[in-house]
Amino acid sequence: MVIQTPSQAHIIVLGNEKGGSGKSTVAMHVAVGLLRLGFKVATIDLDTRQRTLSRYFENRSQRAAEYDENLPQPQHHTFQKSKYDARSVASNDEAWRLGEMIGQLRLGNDFIILDCPGMDNFLAREAHSYADTLITPMNDSFVDFVLLGDMDARNKRVLDPSIYSDMVEEQRSRRSLRDGGKIDWIILRNRLSPLNARNKQDIEDALAALSDRIGFRTVGGFSERVIYRELFLHGLTMFDTIEDASEDIPYSASHIAARGEVQQLLEALNIPAILQRTAPVIANDAGPKAGKRVA
Ligand SMILES: Nc1ncnc2c1ncn2[C@@H]1O[C@H](COP(=O)(O)OP(=O)(O)OP(=O)(O)O)[C@@H](O)[C@H]1O
Ligand SMILES: [Mg+2]
Repeated sequence: MVIQTPSQAHIIVLGNEKGGSGKSTVAMHVAVGLLRLGFKVATIDLDTRQRTLSRYFENRSQRAAEYDENLPQPQHHTFQKSKYDARSVASNDEAWRLGEMIGQLRLGNDFIILDCPGMDNFLAREAHSYADTLITPMNDSFVDFVLLGDMDARNKRVLDPSIYSDMVEEQRSRRSLRDGGKIDWIILRNRLSPLNARNKQDIEDALAALSDRIGFRTVGGFSERVIYRELFLHGLTMFDTIEDASEDIPYSASHIAARGEVQQLLEALNIPAILQRTAPVIANDAGPKAGKRVA
């Protein structure tokens, strides 16, 4: 079968100005999932302060060396904050450097993943304006929802788009002016609890009421699972062969379920090149295996 890859890199932005919603977690899982499907992936960490994604790939390199494991890596870049103090000069400098970086990475890669900081800043706005796909993870709570839409507390009716939605709308216009392109905006519900069915339904209803008005779609979410956080220090995801599953990383049914959730997200991106690469490619590579640390 002939597999088509995108002619120029498809840009996926992880954005939500609400901190701690899962942007970096989703970025690392999507990046490794795409690498495991054989795509060339570049990643850019725009969180110049926390550097979560950069730390994760550092852990991954260290892990590969220590255990002599063949762990696919993206071409990773940590974006450097401008050295200029004057705000307008710094903004121009950052905008120019980000544009250059994306322009260069576009040529040699199938995907570029940008991980935004959990705040509204110039760099995050700029990044949104380059998105082909924008993934916004949100915790399943009205505390997070109100950044998307204002709510009437008495009857839980959605009133209007809110600050983050307005920002996305602004960047959609910029994107359209720049190259006529469109942003496919996906809301990913994160840390879904197996309990609290009432709250889940309320959020689902509120998202449904807002999605047509501001143009996003929701996809099957990620559950609250220890596995999404415990592999961080090891630089792994559940798509990697877990060499020492019996030691510090117990292999469980949660690995399989979480892998299914990430795979579902990759498919929901609705990108033909991904859909052409069959699901078992990811699944066959993963699983527990007795292994030894390199001395
Ligand atoms: N589905 C999940 N199950 C369990 N823990 C999760 C899940 N998703 C994220 N986490 C944990 O929640 C915390 C916040 O996640 P993460 O750092 O990915 O969010 P973020 O949006 O990138 O944050 P920031 O805005 O600070 O950059 C981390 O400790 C992460 O391990
Ligand atoms: Mg982050």
